[in-house]
Amino acid sequence: MTEKELIESGNMKMEWARNHMPVLAIVREKFEEEKPLKGLKVGMALHVEAKTAVLVETLAAGGAKVSIAGCNPLSTQDDVAMALDTRENIHCFAKYGIGSKEYYEAIDRVLDLKPDITIDDGADLIFKLHKERTDLLPNILGGCEETTTGIHRLHAMEKEGALKMPVIAVNDAKTKYLFDNRYGTGQSAWDGINRTTNLLVAGKNVVVAGYGWCGRGVAMRAEGLGASVIVTEIDPIRALEARMDGYRVMKMEEAAKLGDLFVTTTGNRDILTAEHFQVMQDGAILANSGHFNVEIDMDALASLSKSVKTVRNNIKEYDIGNRRINVIAEGRLVNLAAGDGHPAEVMDMSFANQALCVRHIAENKLLNGVHKVPEELDMFVAKMKLKSMGISIDELTSTQECYMSGWECGT
Ligand code: NAI
Repeated sequence: MTEKELIESGNMKMEWARNHMPVLAIVREKFEEEKPLKGLKVGMALHVEAKTAVLVETLAAGGAKVSIAGCNPLSTQDDVAMALDTRENIHCFAKYGIGSKEYYEAIDRVLDLKPDITIDDGADLIFKLHKERTDLLPNILGGCEETTTGIHRLHAMEKEGALKMPVIAVNDAKTKYLFDNRYGTGQSAWDGINRTTNLLVAGKNVVVAGYGWCGRGVAMRAEGLGASVIVTEIDPIRALEARMDGYRVMKMEEAAKLGDLFVTTTGNRDILTAEHFQVMQDGAILANSGHFNVEIDMDALASLSKSVKTVRNNIKEYDIGNRRINVIAEGRLVNLAAGDGHPAEVMDMSFANQALCVRHIAENKLLNGVHKVPEELDMFVAKMKLKSMGISIDELTSTQECYMSGWECGT
């Protein structure tokens, strides 16, 4: 494709996403009117694809200058990145398939523009700020973090007194994790796996590692596609939930022998390792939907292998002698590295939260540390989403309110 065609394709993808993100459209309208981000610079490291581009446009509509890098080298869509870069007040430094050096250079270029507010998916910008670009910290009003793994890392920094800026844990808004992580990952992980493998899920043993918000979405949709689902966990409560939701629960050392297809969703490392590869069935397929590519031990798999070949676009087959193991998208998060990411309607809620939290940071002086998304913003997103879906719900009567909150209003 020529550059012009790529930009056209990016614009088309953005328009489609924009038309399916009604809550973000409401936020954008307000931003256009009130310009709450006027004079501010927002630096971002997010998956650069169409829904993110709609968030970037929204922030620019609010008066901000926005610069963005990717947060994963395989999730950038170049056509969208190029289309974004043509917009006024927007710089996009993301490119598909770049190596680690270029990846971190792009993050540096975002920081070179001296952002007042950051938005991360995995905390890369914040780490760089704290490790190498500390001179920029005094200028920072605050940041927003999109995902569970990023928030784990930020809490760890806060605990050690190392976090030198306020950060809002956008992932932990109810209108984020209950929908994006569960229904978003549930659908888009299977979208990525199915379009890449073109194989049947029905009748397969699908092993889901981790029964958190992402894992339960992936398990639920696997069941819907006709798989027999096995869950592995380390948390007794979540293991019990998985069992009572109807799935088999066992240790990975057992599940490894039974699985036809594995999806890791733990946010932890070393979930599938050499001991598991050696007992897997010939032809087993592995995918990761957790944030970093550390859930499948790719180094161990490579060193066990006698040969590696591409067997289909984005699938590598590792021949470990007595069995072949297939890995989708190099073990990087499968819904974005092998698909288009979450559906637009679900990112509508996540990114409306992001935009509202950026405004909250701009308008309030927050103290250093990890902050919750203000309850009223979370509720606003839920109400607007319901409205956009044409759904009305009941309201408490004053008698009900008294009954629920007091002890004197009768039985
Ligand atoms: P969560 O904390 O709700 O769930 C993770 C689960 O994994 C927990 O139940 C935990 O007990 C379990 N776990 C941890 N170590 C384990 C081990 N060794 N074996 C088995 N289970 C283990 O987290 P959530 O929100 O489900 O996120 C999971 C990962 O997915 C994170 O890295 C997050 O950043 C990422 N994520 C990815 C998305 C995507 O688009 N692919 C979207 C949202 C989150």
